[in-house]
Amino acid sequence: MKLTVFSTHDYDREYFDKVNAEFGHEIVYHDAQLTEDTAALAEGSEAVCLFINDRANRAALESLANAGVKLLTLRSAGFNHVDLEAAEAFDLKVMRVPAYSPEAVAEHTAALILALNRKTHKAYNRVREGNFSLNKLTGFTMKEKTVGVVGTGKIGIAFCKIMLGFGCRVIAHDPYPSEEAKALGVDYIGLEELYNQADIISLHCPLTPENHRMIDGEAISHMKKGVMLINTSRGGLVHTKSVIQALKQRHIGSLGIDVYEQEENLFFRNLSEEVIEDDMIMRLMSFPNVLITAHQAFFTDTALTNIATTTLQNVTDFEQGNDSENTVTSDRIK
Ligand code: NAI
Repeated sequence: MKLTVFSTHDYDREYFDKVNAEFGHEIVYHDAQLTEDTAALAEGSEAVCLFINDRANRAALESLANAGVKLLTLRSAGFNHVDLEAAEAFDLKVMRVPAYSPEAVAEHTAALILALNRKTHKAYNRVREGNFSLNKLTGFTMKEKTVGVVGTGKIGIAFCKIMLGFGCRVIAHDPYPSEEAKALGVDYIGLEELYNQADIISLHCPLTPENHRMIDGEAISHMKKGVMLINTSRGGLVHTKSVIQALKQRHIGSLGIDVYEQEENLFFRNLSEEVIEDDMIMRLMSFPNVLITAHQAFFTDTALTNIATTTLQNVTDFEQGNDSENTVTSDRIK
């Protein structure tokens, strides 16, 4: 089947071409992000492949449908960037890669925590400049600290295991508590209690209309002074202005983010020679106790291979009319 890939990066091409040797689909790559204006690039393809910064809104989906597209296959687990109701209205099937390496994201989350805690990002620069002083590099021992995990799905559980390995007490909040997590020794509690007790809070729930900007001034007011806040899930979970305010007031002690609400205008591109107009990210970057990575938590060899394999299998399943648990609908995930 002919598949048009939007927002292609070198690594997408590399892994898709390698894996497609087994599948034999006809793949057309475009660097362009999907928007209403670029949708026509898919003319002649029954399937398109999208990433999280593609704008699959109603107008773009209508244009894709007009171009003859029948399948949107997402090379991501999250699907909050797709207007699912519009997709159904235009008879576009949506499929995703539900799990490609939960451990990759969990491990990057742990990397952010350790770097922020032990100030590795600062130590690296200091030593390179011949500054071997330890002043202001004090961290804390992770053992016996309380880690609050919001969302204990595949990534949340992988992350709980790592934190339990460090000897942390792990508390969690999830509307659907996991028996596996309980058996590991994770204690489920209410969200406010979690905010109250946790030394480190890590977000691992999907972004939905209900939890949009759940980390706002009110939520932060329940958190411990000096809390470490980590978000490797979706930028929209956090009200950035409130977080900046709390950093200035020293209420949030450190912040690690791999996602950012306005990331679609910034991430996955080299803007080092540009004037960056987003004042909020520039303010965040100015804090010594903030560590930002540009949505790289998933970015391992294992994950890229799994993403390409599942995406191309989704295209084959669609082509052959096979049922697939990777199908996403507006009311539920089939
Ligand atoms: P999952 O579907 O396995 O688990 C999500 C869990 O969150 C479920 O247990 C669900 O009950 C829970 N949940 C839903 N709403 C909640 C709420 N309001 N409060 C607390 N818990 C809630 O998803 P998975 O694979 O663990 O991924 C989680 C998220 O991680 C994705 O939705 C995506 O946004 C993000 N992600 C980030 C990546 C990165 O590179 N930074 C890569 C992959 C995923």
